[in-house]
Formats: sequence, structure tokens, C-alpha cells
Amino acid sequence: ALQRTFSIIKPDATRRNLTGKIIEKFEEGGLRVVASKRIHMTEEQAKQFYAVHAERPFYMDLVNFMISGPVVVQVLEGEDAIAKNREIMGATNPADAAPGTIRKEFAESIEANSVHGSDGPDTAKEEIAFFFSDDEIVG
Ligand code: CMP
Repeated sequence: ALQRTFSIIKPDATRRNLTGKIIEKFEEGGLRVVASKRIHMTEEQAKQFYAVHAERPFYMDLVNFMISGPVVVQVLEGEDAIAKNREIMGATNPADAAPGTIRKEFAESIEANSVHGSDGPDTAKEEIAFFFSDDEIVG
């Protein structure tokens, strides 16, 4: 079914000017950018966005990394967009990512792994609403 998912192009990727190359991967994979903005997250936003990982040992490093530079937050739309985007991104750890995926081609490490994507329908809804109002999404 037609679905929407939430994506972040992370600071390691914006720093290396890879925004266009990453969006090209989404579009080649059949996803459509229906909302997009470049922002610099506040510490509060990053902490809240990743609250599910608050107890993990990497939490504060992750938060500090996510506020280390600009990010591009987007809503991607397409058939089975959530699973498709996960396929296009590749495994969280670039060492495990399949050839041709964003993380295999561009990620620097498990933390600086270039992109975030929603892991399921409930998180997609929550994450989209966290950064976008309805009128900012144009399908
Ligand atoms: P993301 O999809 O943004 O969701 C949580 C992020 O935590 C993940 O991608 C990784 O970039 C980051 N991270 C850092 N260290 C780890 C780790 N050891 N295991 C899983 N995720 C990690």
C-alpha cells in the first residue's frame, strides 16, 4: 500500500555535501520526497526524538552527534515506503550493509551512519508528526 516514512540525512552526510546523492538513492528506489527541511536540531529535540534509546550506553554520544551540524528531515512516500527505505539505507552498521545501499556507500561508522529511517508504521507516524505539520507535507 502507499505509505509514508520519516527520514533524516544526518550531520556526517550534510558535512560531506552528500544530500543530493542520498536523495537520488531514495528517488531511484521509487520513493518520493513529499516534505523536506534543513534544520539544526536542538539538544532538547534530539534527546526527545531518541528518547527510546535513553538507557543505551551510546545515547548521549548519539544526541551530541545529531546536534553537531545541520540535518535534512524528510517525509518519503511510496509503495511500502517504510520497508523500501530500510532496504535503500542498508543495515545500521555500515560493516553489515549490502552493496549499493546508502550506508554501505556513504556511512563512516555505526553512529555516523548518514541516515535515519522509521522502523515501523507507528514510529513513522510519530516521527513525521514530531517534525512536520500536515500543511508542510505535499503529496
Ligand atoms: P538510527 O536509525 O538513527 O537510530 C539510533 C541510532 O543510534 C542508530 O541509527 C545509530 O546511528 C546509533 N548508534 C550508535 N551506536 C549504536 C549501537 N551500538 N547500536 C545501535 N545503534 C547505534
